[in-house]
Amino acid sequence: MPRLHYHLAVQAFLLLLLFSSIASAAIVEHVFQVKNVMVKPLCKEQMIPTVNGSLPGPTIDVREGDTLVVHVINNSTYNVTIHWHGVFQLKTSWMDGTNMITQCPIQPNNNFTYRFNVTGQEGTLLWHAHVVNLRATLHGALIIRPRSDRPYPFPKPYKEVPLILEQWWNTDVGLLKLRPAPLSDSYLINGLAGDSYPCSKNRMFTLKVIQGKTYLLRIINTALNTHLFFKIANHNVTVVAVDAVYTTPYISDVMILTPGQTIDALLTADQPTGLYYMAISPYISAHRQPFPAQSTTALIIYEGATSSSSSHASIPSMPEMNDIQTAHRFSSNITGLAGGPHWTPVPHHVDERMFITMGLGLEACPTGTKCPGELGQRYAGSLNNRTFVYPETIPLQEAYFYNITGIYNDDFPDQPPLKFDYINFKVNTDHDYKMMFPERKTSVKTLRFNSTVEIVVQNTGIITTESHPMHLHGFNFYVLGYGFGNYDPTHDERKLNLVNPQMRNTVGVPPAGWVVLRFIASNPGAWMFHCHMDAHLPYGIIMVFIVQNGPTPETSLLPPPSDIPQCSWDPKIYDSPTTNIDLSY
Ligand code: C2O
Repeated sequence: MPRLHYHLAVQAFLLLLLFSSIASAAIVEHVFQVKNVMVKPLCKEQMIPTVNGSLPGPTIDVREGDTLVVHVINNSTYNVTIHWHGVFQLKTSWMDGTNMITQCPIQPNNNFTYRFNVTGQEGTLLWHAHVVNLRATLHGALIIRPRSDRPYPFPKPYKEVPLILEQWWNTDVGLLKLRPAPLSDSYLINGLAGDSYPCSKNRMFTLKVIQGKTYLLRIINTALNTHLFFKIANHNVTVVAVDAVYTTPYISDVMILTPGQTIDALLTADQPTGLYYMAISPYISAHRQPFPAQSTTALIIYEGATSSSSSHASIPSMPEMNDIQTAHRFSSNITGLAGGPHWTPVPHHVDERMFITMGLGLEACPTGTKCPGELGQRYAGSLNNRTFVYPETIPLQEAYFYNITGIYNDDFPDQPPLKFDYINFKVNTDHDYKMMFPERKTSVKTLRFNSTVEIVVQNTGIITTESHPMHLHGFNFYVLGYGFGNYDPTHDERKLNLVNPQMRNTVGVPPAGWVVLRFIASNPGAWMFHCHMDAHLPYGIIMVFIVQNGPTPETSLLPPPSDIPQCSWDPKIYDSPTTNIDLSY
């Protein structure tokens, strides 16, 4: 074919592709009625806030490229926002649903409509409330399938099965204590506690399978505060995506998910006809944290199995609660599907380099109260020695957009104020003491549009070493490396994976270890970067990136939608349910 004709043909083909994908994009609409209902997963009836009366809440199903419209009607007694965890929100940062960062909460008897496109990502995500504790029961799956003309980059599964892992308290979640994080009563799989708890013997999620068929498990850890191991008796799985990004197929007999992480894994029913348990159990990397080690189970039943009684089922042997090595092996072995759908090569040039120390610290115990922390103080969180304080009157992004001063400071540091032995912290000098008591501030880091940012997140041992799942809003980051100890650029930089690193929105920073992340700040707005253990939000393990506008209207932040909720309540209870929980202990 002559060159010109060839080009014309290619152009016509591309145009056709463009039109066919425009034609296939749909508007997917949902009504989320937030209301309090009674449920009873264990022995006790409990009133909880729900979306549409169910736990977990409704599953949202879209195809990549669709527009999602969700009308939230708040008939509960709480202030709520809904966050679309992991959705890029390209140019729609007002729809990110972060309380006092992108919006004031939706107050009881008020409504708000979230409206945004889901583009450039495929797999499993979640939605959840972004107001302290409420996401314990206000959460659900957000499934993004390829456009109708595109296949999965793996053999088409026979069936798809969402598995929503939850953490349950026999108490009003709105009244849950914030400090220290309260122990939960059980974990749930798709709302059911299963037969390892006496009160839920007959309420267990079961999956009926046909021998030889392959199932796509879409696993979501919605737990407030607990990393979870996941295992199936006698079966391996093949991980094909994490956080809605495709991975190189990775075969494993065990998986680990931090709060906020998701895994898409293929399960082939390739074992003898029978019954097999799947189970989740906590992964607790901190020392001296008392936790119930109990597993929560669900059941796989092969078609043709002679008995359906779980007493005949094979049981997986779960890792020890503090099995750091198993968690590390799984997490660090995953690689991205370079060249697969939506893959973008790692940028080699870095514009902004940050080194962020992360962990717990202390703050002064309010007079007249008793605090459980070291030195009689209460716990606080720290990123580069800052404890984030939420704005109380105006959401941060509104303050940025309208140039309102006094709400936040553009001074989040690129380095900790002091270099020290991060993981073996000892208080020897006044400086060390200062590192133990981070400064309380509403700090942001401003990024130029399209700059490439590299962050070394260094876990500290200031109070205890513990895995913290750091979650970035609005972007996926490449995880270039994972390690233990103090990050050492001369040794560790060489080992970074710049070829096919995994991409995610939430990464577990190893206890007494580090991760190296990279992302391109290509989306204007105010984006949280925080620990996804909900208990660590009031501790302030949070910072915010403000990504400036690009050069064109298409790359600039639009004004907030005219119906965005307004803040009009007692600012002292801004981040709590209207029942006014005590933030002081
Ligand atoms: Cu899934 Cu800021 O959270």
